[in-house]
Amino acid sequence: MARKPLIAGNWKMYLTVADAVELATAVAASCKGLTDREVMIAPSFLAIVSVAEAVADSPVRVAAQNGAWKKEAALTGEISPFMLIDAGVNMVILGHSERRHIFGEGNDIINQRVLGALEYKVTPILCVGETLDQREQNNTFTVIEEQLTEGLKGVGAEQITEVVIAYEPVWAIGTGKTASKEQAQEVHAYIRSLLVTLYEKTLADEIRILYGGSVKPENVDSLMAQPDIDGALVGGAALKAESFDRIIHFK
Ligand code: 13P
Repeated sequence: MARKPLIAGNWKMYLTVADAVELATAVAASCKGLTDREVMIAPSFLAIVSVAEAVADSPVRVAAQNGAWKKEAALTGEISPFMLIDAGVNMVILGHSERRHIFGEGNDIINQRVLGALEYKVTPILCVGETLDQREQNNTFTVIEEQLTEGLKGVGAEQITEVVIAYEPVWAIGTGKTASKEQAQEVHAYIRSLLVTLYEKTLADEIRILYGGSVKPENVDSLMAQPDIDGALVGGAALKAESFDRIIHFK
């Protein structure tokens, strides 16, 4: 089963609107003629409309960095999946470790966000990952299992192939410390085995699992060569056109 690789840039709380449009334009240029992989960028909410307009004629997909689950509601500070579609945005990063650990988002709220995104045809990228402490206590698989099963609660077999999973070990995010390709592959294979149990093998084989955590031009090729790594979710190295271009063109 061929899974189309997805290279995704998470711009977090960086870049002004003007800088975001400039970078988005450069990313669109990098993607010219690329058909064997998908590229996505996730600007801040303030820049998202301008970025979506800037890449509208390119294959680059635009994602939000979070999203709520209703068309409209009294939810101060939130953005609805309906509003995302209206703005030309059809992907959303959910359950990022910064949302989980800094803003205290738990599996149940993340699950609501996943279901809401799917309802409005916004592709959710569900992030999972253990902290250093959890890894050292040998709890990596338990944590991943809980985040995955609770995050996907209520997602039916007919919807699961729309979902993208991202494995981002918290200890590798923004630290320059990448998981080795073996460590990453081990968890990716485990995630796929969980998906086989939750759904079935043919469906699990179609689901893309991205790796995130200090992905750089220097390590992207060896990570992408792993059988269960289907893409990258890139933070810091996605903020510079040159390094993201190299990552997009992984070999
Ligand atoms: P870094 O690539 O900066 O480690 O960030 C990873 C990440 O959190 C992407 O969502």
